[in-house]
Amino acid sequence: MCCSPIRVLSRSETALKVALAYHRVKGDGSRFRLIGRERGYHGVNFGGISVGGIVTNRKMFGTLLTGVDHLPHTHNLAKNAFTKGEPEHGLDTADELERIVTLHDASTIAAVIVEPVAGSTGVLIPPKGYLQRLRDITKKHGILLIFDEVITGFGRLGTPFAADYFGVTPDIMVTAKGLTNGIIPMGAVLVSPEIHDAFMGGPEHVIEFFHGYTYSGNPVASAAALATLETYKQEDLLTRGAELAPYFADALHSLKGEPHVIDIRNIGMVGAIELDPIAGSPTKRAFSAFLAAYESGFLIRTTGDIIALSPPLIISKGQIDELIDGIRTVLRGIA
Ligand SMILES: Cc1ncc(COP(=O)(O)O)c(C=O)c1O
Repeated sequence: MCCSPIRVLSRSETALKVALAYHRVKGDGSRFRLIGRERGYHGVNFGGISVGGIVTNRKMFGTLLTGVDHLPHTHNLAKNAFTKGEPEHGLDTADELERIVTLHDASTIAAVIVEPVAGSTGVLIPPKGYLQRLRDITKKHGILLIFDEVITGFGRLGTPFAADYFGVTPDIMVTAKGLTNGIIPMGAVLVSPEIHDAFMGGPEHVIEFFHGYTYSGNPVASAAALATLETYKQEDLLTRGAELAPYFADALHSLKGEPHVIDIRNIGMVGAIELDPIAGSPTKRAFSAFLAAYESGFLIRTTGDIIALSPPLIISKGQIDELIDGIRTVLRGIA
């Protein structure tokens, strides 16, 4: 994997366009189909919502991109509730890719895009072997594999990237948030040397890839990214999560048995508490939790009826206790 010079804001769009253009420069322009996943999130531009799998983000905007299919999501509460780390059940959901390939023929498919751990729809952790299975199937059929690491990148799982954690190397990686500590807007799309080189064969004066934004290569953002990367190095933050993760996991799972809790899951320094939805009023219970937490002085992120946790990589054990105790109080206080 090498870093391409592509620095933009709409990263998922960039990755999808790189994938299409790559096949074309290789003389394989019939590969135009893109495959995303149910409950996937890749931003709110047309490419992102087309391959993404969040109905509220999609339903207002017509036909979206054509030629897009979706893998099933991997979340299986009935079989995997209260799992620490990667769940046992659900590897077969990766095999759906073979069904889609059989339906369309591999020669029409450009890329598969997934978040290694789906974040925005509630921390959906891949079943054991799932990402490797996707890698095997994509490789077999000449399809590019894109990991959207906007959440998992830069130390979230206790490794620099989720690709390191799972030992699965994608062809293209989408990054952002952690790149600048989430403060200054910047994204980066990383591509394999093979993809990089495929674009670089032309004369020097010719633009390799027509995809510039007004704010591409922004100097302030670049300075913020360089400073952030330096801080990660100095404070070992890209791997600190690995030391803290077992403590975080135990603290989080101590909420099992608290009111409304139907699942707790975690991987690295990310976790989720899924609440039983109020019949007829989905999301209302989590919203009550959000308000109660806010009133007591801390901010939690809810999505659907799920509380998603992704604490700062500098968090201390004492602060983890404080966070979990705060959530415990909130859960005991809401209807
Ligand atoms: C995995 C993933 N991809 C893409 C995005 C979209 O980022 P942006 O809103 O900056 O386009 C997000 C935002 O949360 C994300 O979690």
